Amino acid sequence: MIRKARIKDIKQIQDLINSFAKQNLMLPRSLNELYDNLRDFWVFEKNNKVIGCSALHVCWQDLTEVKSLAVLKKYQRKNIGTQLITACIEEAKKLGAKKIFALTYKPEFFKKFGFHKVKHSDLPHKIWAECINCPKFPNCQEVALLKKL
Ligand SMILES: CC(C)(COP(=O)(O)OP(=O)(O)OC[C@H]1O[C@@H](n2cnc3c(N)ncnc32)[C@H](O)[C@@H]1OP(=O)(O)O)[C@@H](O)C(=O)NCCC(=O)NCCS
Repeated sequence: MIRKARIKDIKQIQDLINSFAKQNLMLPRSLNELYDNLRDFWVFEKNNKVIGCSALHVCWQDLTEVKSLAVLKKYQRKNIGTQLITACIEEAKKLGAKKIFALTYKPEFFKKFGFHKVKHSDLPHKIWAECINCPKFPNCQEVALLKKL
């Protein structure tokens, strides 16, 4: 079942994201960052356990970002990622955003949902503020992808 995240989910969300971060597939997230952005998050719950998550962040007047999309390895390829990204896209539309972007090491997954590759410099400067604090800066291999809504 997909639903908006609750405070009690945060630890499981962090464990999920950081397990992939250890494999260099995602960026790690601190508890502080997750609590601050709790209301951005969607979770997929099964048997009272968080097995997937995604987040929609409002960046600017017409721009939103999909962040922290992850599904526990055991449950991948069961359409859960599709439901999580679709929830973010639909939420962005409801909010009146014109564009949604993602920074990812998995561009092929996002392309299935109408995202296309853009240059990092096509995104506003504000987006890069977060990058300065990343251990991978400035040698980041993440691909920037954008979808018009
Ligand atoms: C990317 C991810 C969220 C996809 O979740 P998922 O639940 O497996 O996705 P779905 O089952 O909805 O997949 C839908 C389709 O997308 C494609 N797809 C899924 N994972 C893919 C991948 N890793 N690479 C390319 N295409 C992929 C497939 O065509 C799939 O359909 P199929 O299984 O019928 O072939 C998941 O693999 C994951 O958590 N990866 C580790 C974290 C990560 O890399 N996150 C990326 C965003 S930062």
